[in-house]
Amino acid sequence: QIRAAITGVHGYVPDYVLTNEELATIVDTNDEWITSRTGIKTRHILKGEEQGTSVMVIEAIKGLLEKTNTRPEDVEVVICATVTGDSIFPDTANIAAYHTGLVNAFGFDLNAACSGFLYALTVGAKMVEGGTHKKVIVVGADKMSSIIDYTDRTTCVIFGDGGGAVMLEPTTEDVGIIDYQHHGDGSGEKYLYLVAGGSRKPATVDSVMAREHFVRQNGRPVFKAAVTGMSDVVMKVMARNNLDAENLNWLVPHQANVRIIQTVSKMANFPMEKVMINIQNYGNTTAGTIPLCLWDYESQLRKGDNLVLTAFGGGFTWGALYLKW
Ligand code: ACO
Repeated sequence: QIRAAITGVHGYVPDYVLTNEELATIVDTNDEWITSRTGIKTRHILKGEEQGTSVMVIEAIKGLLEKTNTRPEDVEVVICATVTGDSIFPDTANIAAYHTGLVNAFGFDLNAACSGFLYALTVGAKMVEGGTHKKVIVVGADKMSSIIDYTDRTTCVIFGDGGGAVMLEPTTEDVGIIDYQHHGDGSGEKYLYLVAGGSRKPATVDSVMAREHFVRQNGRPVFKAAVTGMSDVVMKVMARNNLDAENLNWLVPHQANVRIIQTVSKMANFPMEKVMINIQNYGNTTAGTIPLCLWDYESQLRKGDNLVLTAFGGGFTWGALYLKW
């Protein structure tokens, strides 16, 4: 049986570090509130004129090619999970493929907010398992600062910019992506959304003046749904793959809020020592959080380690995926 294995991971965050202290000079907030409510200390911001998400995707792909010793012309597919593509179209995957010399690859973007990377990983894995593709790059990246209202203290403290890329290749060894369970519920639209800039309400001078091109969120219901959704799928995926607190090596949760992560770990009866956390450094980079976690923890991962990845995001979208490293 052919499985899709992750054969490399590389992340990228922009240089500029936005601290809680600096945020406190912009909105009415403070380090104590942000740290205790979210666990976030710093986030990275992509500065500069006309610097879109593709800038970060290109850097992540370049690093990945080098690390995995892959010739650019051998890559066949690029899937880029993002909600902040350079523009509504063309897609960011093909722009990044062009700038990294992936001359034989086709690409497309996938929009599932914070669950985007998990969904994209699932699609990429199926392309590899089916036997038609041997080198698929899956990216999760977002420039959240481009859709954040830096006068709204309830959202601007949470998000950051960054992302990462993984290489998927076929394997017949006992590693790779084994199982997943994903969900979607469009009724969640009312809790986390962008009013304007899409086809339903194209951006106008009025919509910009009303700040409708920025993220709006009702944090409490999102928090609740995230905890319930992630713990439910994590427990289901663990149970049917005979995983428990002993033989599961790592839980890799979307980094939205450290309190959400702690609650999911508690509900799944899984120890926090084996939960990947880097939210303190990057905040919520939406589709970027899971590949950034894998990148940061790479040196601690051993071949054959059992990992369950889980995410919850706008849509609502959520899911969990089981793989052997
Ligand atoms: N600094 C200081 N005070 C603040 C701030 C801030 N940055 N933000 C809000 N407050 C105030 C509020 O105004 C409120 O004051 P009030 O009681 O006088 O009205 C008080 O703090 C409590 O506000 P709550 O919203 O009830 O605070 P809560 O404990 O729920 O934390 C938070 C808010 C961090 C947003 C939390 O609800 C959360 O993390 N929700 C999930 C959000 C999330 O993860 N979103 C991303 C998911 S997915 C995606 O796709 C992007």
